[in-house]
Amino acid sequence: MNTTKRAPAPPFVASGPLVASGPLVANGPPAAPLAAFENVFKIYGKGDAEVRALDGVDLQIDQGEFVAVMGPSGSGKSTAMNILGCLDKPTAGRYLFKGVDVATLSADQLAMLRRHFLGFVFQGFNLLARTTALENLELPLIYQRIDKTKRRAMAMEALDVVGLLGREHHTPAELSGGQQQRVAIARAIVTKPSLLLADEPTGNLDSARSHEIMQLLAKLNRQKALTVVLVTHEEEIAAYAGRRIEFRDGRIVRETRSTRTLTARDSNESVQGA
Ligand SMILES: Nc1ncnc2c1ncn2[C@@H]1O[C@H](COP(=O)(O)OP(=O)(O)OP(=O)(O)O)[C@@H](O)[C@H]1O
Ligand SMILES: [Mg+2]
Repeated sequence: MNTTKRAPAPPFVASGPLVASGPLVANGPPAAPLAAFENVFKIYGKGDAEVRALDGVDLQIDQGEFVAVMGPSGSGKSTAMNILGCLDKPTAGRYLFKGVDVATLSADQLAMLRRHFLGFVFQGFNLLARTTALENLELPLIYQRIDKTKRRAMAMEALDVVGLLGREHHTPAELSGGQQQRVAIARAIVTKPSLLLADEPTGNLDSARSHEIMQLLAKLNRQKALTVVLVTHEEEIAAYAGRRIEFRDGRIVRETRSTRTLTARDSNESVQGA
């Protein structure tokens, strides 16, 4: 029997074109910021043991931005990223994604939001071992119920974008660290998300490999209008971003905009499959 009532799709899914059109580029400037925190708190523990991981944070991320999140260890960067990625919820305050308060979404709707609109890249790559690059990329598309032929084509296109054609049948153990992170980025963008969240994506890579990854993210941001929020401890990594947000003790203590000169150097490159 099939009488179970499904929860209505959230407004950003019901609006259709953003899902149906597929490309990372949204159709014109959205009315609301892509993501916004309104006085967000995240509090762990109670009494003396209370930790204010986020202590009243207001934040706006606009479509197409490239934002670097910085700050000392324990200042709340990953906590903010986890909330942006709907992996965690604020203790108080609101998180709006495309103007929708995510607290109003059902578990199914949240899962849909994560699958269709958000991509994640972590320091540790988090690829499935004994699973080829191609299969790692196809997995999120299986969750989206995309048929096999289309899945394969989308996965190959994403591998092409990150410069890994020819490595599609390699397992993570058969790839270098930089290549593994490229697969992880390809997996994050294969679903054509609006927002890519990267928590110290270059933390396990040497300097040369880190810059390659940053150039790739900058290229995706510039040429595919992918909004990127990236946590880093390193100045030269943050220099790729257009805006820098600094956390301290769960609060944003400084915001600066840059002229993005570092990203200009690969401006002549083309993103294949665009
Ligand atoms: N699940 C949890 N339970 C209790 N406290 C937590 C939990 N997660 C994070 N915290 C605390 O919240 C604060 C912020 O942690 P968070 O992971 O956001 O820091 P961070 O800025 O990402 O640090 P790092 O640069 O070391 O990754 C820290 O004091 C941390 O100990
Ligand atoms: Mg962290």
